[in-house]
Amino acid sequence: HYVETLDSLQRPLKDLRLSVIDKCNFRCSYCMPKDVFTKDYPFLKHSQLMSFDEMLKLARGFVALGAEKIRITGGEPLLRKNIEHLIESLARLTTPSGKPVSISMTTNGTLLASKAQALKDAGLERVTVSLDSLDNDIFMRMNDVGVPVSVVLKGIEAAQRAGLSPVKVNTVVQKGVNDSQIMPIVNHFRHSGVTVRFIEYMDVGGANYWSNSGVMTSDLVRARIEQEHRLIAVAQERASDTAHCYRYADGAAGEVGFISSVSEPFCGDCTRARVSADGKLFMCLFATESLDLRPLLGENTAPEVLADTIRAAWRKRGDHYSELRDERYKDPAKKVYPTVRMSLVGG
Ligand code: GTP
Ligand code: 5AD
Ligand code: SF4
Ligand code: SF4
Repeated sequence: HYVETLDSLQRPLKDLRLSVIDKCNFRCSYCMPKDVFTKDYPFLKHSQLMSFDEMLKLARGFVALGAEKIRITGGEPLLRKNIEHLIESLARLTTPSGKPVSISMTTNGTLLASKAQALKDAGLERVTVSLDSLDNDIFMRMNDVGVPVSVVLKGIEAAQRAGLSPVKVNTVVQKGVNDSQIMPIVNHFRHSGVTVRFIEYMDVGGANYWSNSGVMTSDLVRARIEQEHRLIAVAQERASDTAHCYRYADGAAGEVGFISSVSEPFCGDCTRARVSADGKLFMCLFATESLDLRPLLGENTAPEVLADTIRAAWRKRGDHYSELRDERYKDPAKKVYPTVRMSLVGG
């Protein structure tokens, strides 16, 4: 029978964030700045990427240990060819207690208009689209590759039409860069049923230019919204949820949420494991080390060996980076912290 595996801080493993590719067609300055991610950047080679068979075996290992949700990430996951084939097999997985595993995806939305229906048909349940601005000039400056915002908005509409539900929008707020976009984004999606979540800008790998002064805390974002709309807190579904959500007091459809990993770290309930597209297991978004699982994904390795390896690693897990951030930044020598790149583990 099934026994939950807890890490050293008593946290169970509940979510797998699986990156399927480390490339992206955007160059958001806070994630893949152009001067670092040039055409010579050592992206993973095709041979380094796990095959879909390997990913399925990997996912089975995590589900055996308690994962109930699998989120497909990138880079940009829709750049991975035939991704719907992977989703089809992941969507058939069930938890040890017989519940279907929920499959979701975080995407920049550029390819969603053409792929939303196929993704839904393959069994994708939900989708989250990153969108930092409705103003086209700001949007193009932020993605730094000249894609207009209309492309992403069409992707979001296609996802809703296809019945992916809920559709969420993630907005990373950077003070002085896109804080002017908070109300336009709120008002665009109010009544539409889309949940908009504002994310505090974090010092993750690749955010080379991060400083606390660029962070707009969730309290301030919420105060801004409440000048126009009265909000009512909604209870979290699960303690490990990243966002605190609110509905509109006037009953308008949709919710707004806040992901406050800088001002209010949520490591205490963090149940997320991350695996990069080359099969490396990271225990934290800010991890500096990983465990290579790919050697265990071949046909010659019994599934139990994989599950036992993940279990042993999870038991040792003690990461809680966001709770240590303030302490770390007091020491200038520790400011440069070589964490895994966001684009390798998909946020
Ligand atoms: P659902 O709960 O299924 O909606 O997923 P999610 O909120 O975990 O997924 P999403 O990819 O939309 O995550 C939103 C953002 O929250 C990420 O891109 C990160 O910026 C941040 N985030 C998610 N998980 C963590 C985490 O474990 N630690 C920190 N510090 N930030 C996280
Ligand atoms: N701080 C906060 N969120 C970030 N994301 C990427 N980089 C950062 C950062 N420095 C978010 C993206 C996307 C998700 C995958 O991660 O906006 O929604
Ligand atoms: Fe931007 Fe997401 Fe691509 Fe990073 S992975 S550059 S946040 S679209
Ligand atoms: Fe989890 Fe690490 Fe984020 Fe804390 S900082 S919530 S431990 S991923």
